[in-house]
Parts: sequence; structure tokens; C-alpha cells
Amino acid sequence: MHHLSVFCYLLLTFASSLGANQTLKSVATYKEWPTGIAVSSEGRIFTSFPRQRQVQPYTLAELVGGSSKPYPSVSIQSGSYLDASSWFVDAQSVVIDSEDRLWVLDTGFPFKNGTKQSKAVYNGPKIVCIDLKVNKVVRTYVIPAGALVEKSSINDVRFNLTLGDLGYAFISDTAEEGAIITLDLNTGLAIRRLSNSSFTRADDKFVGSYENVPFYVREKGKPAKSISNGANAIALYGGSVFFSPQASTRFHSVPQEVLIDQNQTEENVRAATRLVTRTPGYSTGAESDESGRIYYGSPEQNAINYIDAATDEVKVLVSSPLLKWPDSFCQSRDGYLYVTSNDLPKWPKFNEGRELRKPPYHLYKIKTGSRPPM
Ligand SMILES: *[C@@H]1O[C@H](CO)[C@@H](O)[C@H](O)[C@H]1NC(C)=O
Ligand SMILES: *[C@@H]1O[C@H](CO)[C@@H](O)[C@H](O)[C@H]1NC(C)=O
Ligand SMILES: *[C@@H]1O[C@H](CO)[C@@H](O)[C@H](O)[C@H]1NC(C)=O
Ligand SMILES: *[C@@H]1O[C@H](CO)[C@@H](O)[C@H](O)[C@H]1NC(C)=O
Ligand SMILES: *[C@@H]1O[C@H](CO)[C@@H](O)[C@H](O)[C@H]1NC(C)=O
Repeated sequence: MHHLSVFCYLLLTFASSLGANQTLKSVATYKEWPTGIAVSSEGRIFTSFPRQRQVQPYTLAELVGGSSKPYPSVSIQSGSYLDASSWFVDAQSVVIDSEDRLWVLDTGFPFKNGTKQSKAVYNGPKIVCIDLKVNKVVRTYVIPAGALVEKSSINDVRFNLTLGDLGYAFISDTAEEGAIITLDLNTGLAIRRLSNSSFTRADDKFVGSYENVPFYVREKGKPAKSISNGANAIALYGGSVFFSPQASTRFHSVPQEVLIDQNQTEENVRAATRLVTRTPGYSTGAESDESGRIYYGSPEQNAINYIDAATDEVKVLVSSPLLKWPDSFCQSRDGYLYVTSNDLPKWPKFNEGRELRKPPYHLYKIKTGSRPPM
């Protein structure tokens, strides 16, 4: 054997012994606690940081030279609750659409006397469209009250711009009475679908685990409570919406055409919804690509898994101890899947009031060689 080929052989053996882990690349670290991630066609990176305290320097930022810079301005990061539609109350998710515009999903959860509320402020829950060429808000859609319930917690959104006149948004509501909300980008009208159904609700008395410990809401002086979050992860592929209630091991799908058709009865929509697969463990966020992979975060395995939409089989993309609650994803146009890792179960509400999260939080990427779906 050649010296060079011996060297290559050793190098390959060494590389494969490292496990799948080696393919995750660190992109950035964050001081604030991140959730959503969006990467534009030019590689600009945007992150949402749900508010942990009322006065937080930003809840939406762009990564500039490795640091988070309030985006699109400093002034839009704060405002009055009397006018909650005009600023970012609590940015939970960010998404790039097929026209390379940035969308911000705001839960609208305010602070009251220093404590974050789990009931949105009037006009707070919204999706906001930003033109990246001029870095300005171009349109705000407040979610109509009729599409929400008292405890609504809008969580994530995906867009199909080929439906209707200007496209539709599909929004997951992770309240216990989970739902998928469709919003017509032409009229701003929204329909709440599959609300509080067996498809969008958690599994009854669901208990998952994190770092091999059963994962509950644990408040001081109260018995442990099972987590009951409904529809959370959401992705579009092949004309269907794929979604999963967070406290479950189920992925469902429903045709987009059925969901957006206001003439369809709720019974028809339920009849058109199917169980795609059960998954090994619960999921966090999801993302799809043009090859028909529905990626999702699997904290129990410190993994990013995917459902192959052609066969409904669940496969592993990458598993690594670096993935501590892989939260949200973005398939970029240059062939990478981006993922935020935020160690969510270390929150005080899961640890009898103790804050166990420690910055820095992480953004990683892994090559998929794929692109967003059409
Ligand atoms: C993954 O990478 C980390 C950091 O480079 C390393 O400490 C760890 O041992 C690796 N794990 C595996 C399973 O290769
Ligand atoms: C506001 O918070 C302070 C400090 O935690 C507490 O003493 C006070 O009772 C609270 N007021 C109300 C109206 O909840
Ligand atoms: C939601 O569904 C649960 C379980 O089926 C039921 O107990 C509850 O009454 C429903 N809530 C509403 C508002 O319909
Ligand atoms: C968007 O809708 C069109 C129908 O107008 C459909 O062909 C396409 O598959 C949908 N895109 C996705 C990603 O589901
Ligand atoms: C819904 O029904 C109305 C009234 O019958 C009709 O005008 C409209 O075209 C229907 N919409 C769809 C999407 O089928």
C-alpha cells in the first residue's frame, strides 16, 4: 500500500469512529435563549428569542459577524401592550418563504408585574412579513380572535404561496386545545381547524424523558404534571401539512386544499387527516426538504430524525450529545439544515423554580445537499 493511501485509510477509519456527530458544524452561539431559525437565500441568519424578561434587548435578531443584532430595528423590539400589533411582543418563530421574505411569528404573550403570562394580549398573536431587501415590515396579519381560544399559544408557521391569490399560512397552535390555523394572505381571514381533536391534542397523560429522566412540569409545592402541549411541529410537503402534537409520538398529515377550503365541514377535515407514523419519542420542531424528508427534533435521542414521506419510515439524520433539545430547523437553499439547540427542559417551570439553563446556546448546521420544497 502507498504511504498516501495508508494515510487516507487511517483518516477514514478515524473519521467514521467519531460517529455521526462529526457532521454537525457549529455556526454561532447565543447569549439569549433561542428558538426559531431562518436562513435567507443570501445566507443571512435570523433567530427568534422568546422573551425571558420584559426588558430584553431583542426578541428577533440577525447574526452579524457572529453577534445577534436586533432586527429589523431596535425600536420594534418594545412598545405598549395597548398597541400590541405594531411591535414584537414575543417572537417565537422565524421562517423564510419561497419569495425569500422573512416571517416572524409572535405569540403575543405579555408580562404582568414581571411574570410572563400564558394568555396573549389583545392583538398580540400575529405573523409579520419583512422585506429583506429594505429591512422593513411590509405586512402584519393579526390572527383573528375567532381562530384562537383563550389559552392559544401559536407556535410555528409554514407558507405555501401558490395557494389562493397570495398564498396561505399554516400555523400550529400548541395549546392543550391544539389546532392548525390556516390564514389567507390575501384576505387575512383565518380558520381554526382540527381544534381540540385527537389529531392536535397531546396523548392523554403523556410522559416523555430528557437526559433519561421523566419530563414533567414541576412547580414548587405542586405534584408533577404531565406536559399537554398540542400541535407544535409543522412542515409542508407534496400538498399536505405534516404536524405533531408535542406531547405525543404521532405525526399526522392533512391535504392543504382541504384545510383551506372554508366550505369543508370539520368532519370532512378530520376524515381527510391521517396518522403518518408514530415516532420513537416526542418531537420538537419540524422542517421539510424537496426530497420528501420531514425532519424533526428528537430530544430523547439527542437526534434529528426524519420521516421519509415516500414510505413513512422514520430514519436518523444525526445523533449527537451536542443536540440538547434541537428546537427549530431551517433547510437553507445552499444545502444545509440549520438547527437551534436550547436545552429547554432546564427551564424553571420544569425544575421547581430553579433556572438550570446556561448560555451560550447553540446554532448548528448539517449538510443535507437538499433544498426547501416547492
Ligand atoms: C461528539 O462531539 C463532541 C465534541 O466534539 C465530543 O466531545 C463527543 O465525544 C462526540 N461524540 C461522539 C458520539 O462522537
Ligand atoms: C407584583 O410582584 C411583587 C413582587 O414579586 C409582589 O410583591 C406583588 O404582590 C405583585 N403584585 C401583584 C398585583 O400581583
Ligand atoms: C377538549 O377535548 C377534551 C378531551 O376530549 C374535552 O375533555 C374538553 O371538554 C374539550 N374542550 C373543549 C373546549 O371542547
Ligand atoms: C403548494 O401547493 C401546490 C398546489 O397549489 C402543491 O402542488 C405543492 O405541493 C404545495 N407545496 C408544498 C410544499 O406542499
Ligand atoms: C364555497 O361555497 C360558496 C357558496 O356555495 C361558493 O361560492 C364557493 O365557490 C365555494 N368555495 C370553494 C373553495 O369551493
